[in-house]
Amino acid sequence: MLPERSLTTAIVLAAGNGTRMHSAIPKVLHPLAGRPLVEHAVRAAAGLVPEHLIVVIGHGRDAVDAHLRTVAAELGREVRAAVQAQQHGTGHAVCAALGVLPAGLSGTVLVSCGDVPLLDTGTLAGLITEHHRARHAATVLTAVVEDPTGYGRVLRDRSGAVTGIVEHRDATTAQRAIQEINSGVFAFDAGVLRDALGRLDPSTDHRNSQGELYLTDVLGVARARGLPVGAHPCADPWLVAGVNDRVQLAAVGAELNRRLLEHWMRAGVTVVDPTSVWLDVDVQLAPDVVLHPGVQLHAGTVVGPGAMIGPDSTLSSCTVGAGATVVRTHALGAVVADDAQIGPFAYLRPGSRVGERARVGTFVETKNAQLGPGAKVPHLSYVGDATIGEGSNIGAATVFVNYDGVTKHRTTVGAHARTGADNMFVAPVTIGDGAYTAAGSVITEDVPPGALAVARGRQRNVEGWVSQRRPGTPAAHAAKRAQQTDGDQTRQEQT
Ligand code: UD1
Ligand code: CA
Repeated sequence: MLPERSLTTAIVLAAGNGTRMHSAIPKVLHPLAGRPLVEHAVRAAAGLVPEHLIVVIGHGRDAVDAHLRTVAAELGREVRAAVQAQQHGTGHAVCAALGVLPAGLSGTVLVSCGDVPLLDTGTLAGLITEHHRARHAATVLTAVVEDPTGYGRVLRDRSGAVTGIVEHRDATTAQRAIQEINSGVFAFDAGVLRDALGRLDPSTDHRNSQGELYLTDVLGVARARGLPVGAHPCADPWLVAGVNDRVQLAAVGAELNRRLLEHWMRAGVTVVDPTSVWLDVDVQLAPDVVLHPGVQLHAGTVVGPGAMIGPDSTLSSCTVGAGATVVRTHALGAVVADDAQIGPFAYLRPGSRVGERARVGTFVETKNAQLGPGAKVPHLSYVGDATIGEGSNIGAATVFVNYDGVTKHRTTVGAHARTGADNMFVAPVTIGDGAYTAAGSVITEDVPPGALAVARGRQRNVEGWVSQRRPGTPAAHAAKRAQQTDGDQTRQEQT
């Protein structure tokens, strides 16, 4: 009889160096749907609410540890890092984790891998339940896959009982034909785990081609000691897919995306072309949102009912209100209110807040800019550090000149102002409610409410300049013809 049957500990292995990624970034920090691989694994394990949640870190440990701290803060629970200074294998990694746990640890220990990102809490819970139901000392989560290359294979005797796991590189040709693979995820009795790890010795009976301590060998050791071990097959092989290289990263990423899209489509979102739309995990979409081809919605983006995004738009940490349209737009940290219209070809930078029914049009860039309800910046403008009041219209090709080379300054445009095309607002400057500015103005001084500001050189026409200075040119001929026609018309009108 094994003691206590409750889950006390979850260990996530994330110390390996990820050689096959050929990357300066630790493998477990490579993102998938907006979260590093290890965060997927940590969140799945945290969902089981274990008493201890340990992540074994080693390669690139400072960066991984820093990320774990943010995850712990978001989860509102302790996530402890155990350092495995040198990576001598998955068994060695678990030893590092046990080193930071109480010596008399009892109960059930879950071990999962930081490079198996699609595993969810439900599947882990299923493993634990089966482990307890069958009264096993060790239970491995397995799956039957088309192509088992690279994975450890599950060995069973004639009766079907699990006898151990052999790594791909150590397997015979016959063993390589086995399609049931080790997911790298196990439930162990704490005492059995500690005891079996102590018995592993890569140089003697558990010789393997890498000279490492293999966690997988714990199963064979426990079995050899007459303890009950077993496997819990997972029906969905994607859930246990590991990421060792960038080909697998892309394949698992595409599958996760497909699943996220399916989830949102079933919740009422129209996705016109699911092959060209990419969603992060941390995105919220309301019913009747329409995503056109070429849309990428990154973490922290929330889209309200009936809003239309795309084609060809990328939004990160944005909020888009009900009924808004966002067309061919790149936006980061922007808030777009209900029924606003963005694009085509707009660039919304952090701090952009576009009011209800407001419009940011074609080739317009905004940053730290608020547009009141119904305000419009329709064409070819830069709006930096600005407040634009309700119902105001900014003329085409306007620049909010916010930077004097040292400090950023703010421009305030009141409500229902109409500014002319091709204006420069040299901040700090204020344009009052209901004011107008003339086209081509460089506004350097405040404009009182209701005033018209004209800030440009007066026009002067030098009559006959072309015929005198450019005689014989097509311009001169055209001008002469126009003058004759004008003269003819004048004579006709006079008769
Ligand atoms: C491992 C399993 C294999 C299984 C596969 C599932 C072993 C020996 N092999 O192989 O049976 O089919 O996972 O995906 O367990 N790690 C450490 N410290 C180390 C070595 C690895 O923390 O010293 C971590 C890695 O960061 C990774 C995980 O353990 O998250 C698995 O290591 P990896 O080298 O990817 O093992 P695989 O070859 O995939
Ligand atoms: Ca792996």
